[in-house]
Amino acid sequence: MRLMNAKLVLAGGLLAASALWALPAGAVDWASVPGKDVNLFYPGQASFEWVLTQTDHSGAPVFKDGKNCAQCHDLPGKSEASKMGDTIVSGKKLEPAPIAGKPGSIVANVKIAKDGDKLSVRLEFPDTPAAGAKMDADNAVKVTMMLDNGKVPEFARMGCWATCHDNLAYMASAQPGQDVTKYIKQSRVKLTRQGGADVKPADELAKLHGEGMELEYWQAKLNPGKPAAAVDGFILDKRAPDATPAVTAEGKLEGGKWVVILSRKLAAPAPYKELAAGKVYTVGFAIHGGFAARRFHWVSFEHSLAIGGGEGDFVVK
Ligand code: HEC
Repeated sequence: MRLMNAKLVLAGGLLAASALWALPAGAVDWASVPGKDVNLFYPGQASFEWVLTQTDHSGAPVFKDGKNCAQCHDLPGKSEASKMGDTIVSGKKLEPAPIAGKPGSIVANVKIAKDGDKLSVRLEFPDTPAAGAKMDADNAVKVTMMLDNGKVPEFARMGCWATCHDNLAYMASAQPGQDVTKYIKQSRVKLTRQGGADVKPADELAKLHGEGMELEYWQAKLNPGKPAAAVDGFILDKRAPDATPAVTAEGKLEGGKWVVILSRKLAAPAPYKELAAGKVYTVGFAIHGGFAARRFHWVSFEHSLAIGGGEGDFVVK
């Protein structure tokens, strides 16, 4: 309830970009919403292609046979995430340039609730000291959620790894001078162990976009003592932020802990995913701490979200 008095500034997503209103915050009684600890770890250069190659990752054939990432690595009470993060951040594996002092993992307590005609996601996690150079000097912390409604089959099984390819900037197959951002495999002509170099022609991408074959993301950019800035966007052939986000963000650092709330209306025009009762979604979380950017974040495995009751890692009544 700490955020009750915080001023929420809503950037007018569906109206003029310049329209700003101050709204009363805290309509959800968060104390009554059950929280779930989500494990996020440092993934290094563990790309989509790396996880699917048996000679790199022994889990690959079992994944292809139908077992999802979290079913091996993130079982309730038996998560391997912190151990995996420690291995990778130390440079033992998947990280050619380890950053001294960077934590291998972080735990965020996540609550998701319906707030009138909106869905709100609240994350609470410890602030982490900066380690290494400031890669994104403008933002101390970024909190991101990716969301899908079953359109991208890989996302339900592997969460954010559906977008993390070997040729992205700072990944193992990055090409000098090419700043490739997240994409899904459906946007590429073909994939090799090095990722997908050739993007499909514009008309094919437009068709995929029209079919909803893309992922949605919500993000809060955070600096202590300043209002959070909301970003949202879509991922098909690249990470494409919206000019006027429909998502709003609140964030506050207090007592060494961040409390961040991302919200958007359940009903939003396409390409936003329709959020409706009776449906199950997949979400994945990422936190960039200590002015980090790009792959130098902590990421979660895939989590299901059921709206209107039913079964899921998160169930919103
Ligand atoms: C059948 C169980 C299984 C599945 C499913 C599986 N893995 Fe693994 N994974 C392993 C095992 C075993 C290792 C340790 C050694 C290795 O690399 O083979 C591992 C290692 C890793 C590592 C390196 C960190 C470490 O501690 O060695 C990462 C990162 C990883 N897996 C990510 C994933 C992702 C992402 C998925 C889903 C696309 C996935 N795994 C699916 C079994 C699995």
